[in-house]
Amino acid sequence: VKIVTYRDLRSKDDLLPLMDHGFRWSFNPREFEEFVKLESWLRNGIVGLCALEGDHVVGFVGAYDLPTRTLGGSVEYAGGVYGVATLPSHTRKGISTALMNSLHQHFRDKGYRFSILGTSRILIAHAFYEKLGYRDFLEIPSAYKVFEKRRKPRPMAGEKPSKTDLDKLLKIYNEHDKPSLTVRDVSLLKAFKKAEEFTDKDCRTTDEGYVLFKKDHKGVWIRELVALNANEMNRLVSFVEEQAKDLVYDRAVLDSTLLEVYRSRGYMIHGKSHSVMMAKPLTPDASFKQTYGDRIYMAGLDFF
Ligand SMILES: CC(C)(COP(=O)(O)OP(=O)(O)OC[C@H]1O[C@@H](n2cnc3c(N)ncnc32)[C@H](O)[C@@H]1OP(=O)(O)O)[C@@H](O)C(=O)NCCC(=O)NCCS
Repeated sequence: VKIVTYRDLRSKDDLLPLMDHGFRWSFNPREFEEFVKLESWLRNGIVGLCALEGDHVVGFVGAYDLPTRTLGGSVEYAGGVYGVATLPSHTRKGISTALMNSLHQHFRDKGYRFSILGTSRILIAHAFYEKLGYRDFLEIPSAYKVFEKRRKPRPMAGEKPSKTDLDKLLKIYNEHDKPSLTVRDVSLLKAFKKAEEFTDKDCRTTDEGYVLFKKDHKGVWIRELVALNANEMNRLVSFVEEQAKDLVYDRAVLDSTLLEVYRSRGYMIHGKSHSVMMAKPLTPDASFKQTYGDRIYMAGLDFF
């Protein structure tokens, strides 16, 4: 197979079956192009590498240029990997291995010292990444609550949701006392809002915190809750609970204060997860632990 960058692909249409088989991601080439233009982790880079058989894409690995915050507080770019997939008809022929090796070389050429990705320990990919030199660096705690009785969500009638102020969300996120592994900007929030179809109804912002959530007929998924103190966290969780009929859950709680807030409110807390973040040093002298420490924080939208 031949390896080309996403940018050099003549048609991106083959990525629809590839991504749908790999992730049930109904990849829309036109929408994705728009997303790439918006998203600061993608817009200046190669976007990904594609394995071609003839003119057709049979494998893909995605590439982010990830700004990360080191222990010392400086910003260092790392490689981020997403969307690793090979067509079912072409697996076990070394295609992903070849793509990942090329991607690592691309990252090294850019001077990056680490490659970072998110996966699940229950996928065969996890062992594959370990074989390539990746190691788990983050366990992702979660919190769940089922109400004793079905609740009547507080009516929002007449209450017009205020317009989501992305600059304010970013300001609160940056004021949070535990800096995140990845560095965020407003373009990422805009891209997220578009990709996940978030509306003003799905966000509550106060002076000291915000919560982004998705509500369905049963309950509420807290997509990201960031607040500067436990009181504000309690207030935001209360607000979300008022919106839910049967249940509330948060799948990624890296802030220990927030985890305690959930615990104190009777949530079921799980420290271990199938999902993990993994990292691979790209140069012999690079140490992930020395660079980032061992108490990494990431908020809900930081996961990829
Ligand atoms: C995981 C995946 C990308 C591997 O792609 P691939 O092109 O088949 O990978 P390779 O042929 O380079 O295999 C690399 C190694 O992965 C492991 N592996 C791949 N498929 C495997 C399988 N079916 N069973 C066990 N191990 C497997 C093996 O260690 C293999 O090396 P080996 O063939 O020398 O033993 C592919 O199976 C896929 O698209 N899966 C669905 C999407 C997915 O889960 N992506 C990862 C998300 S984080």
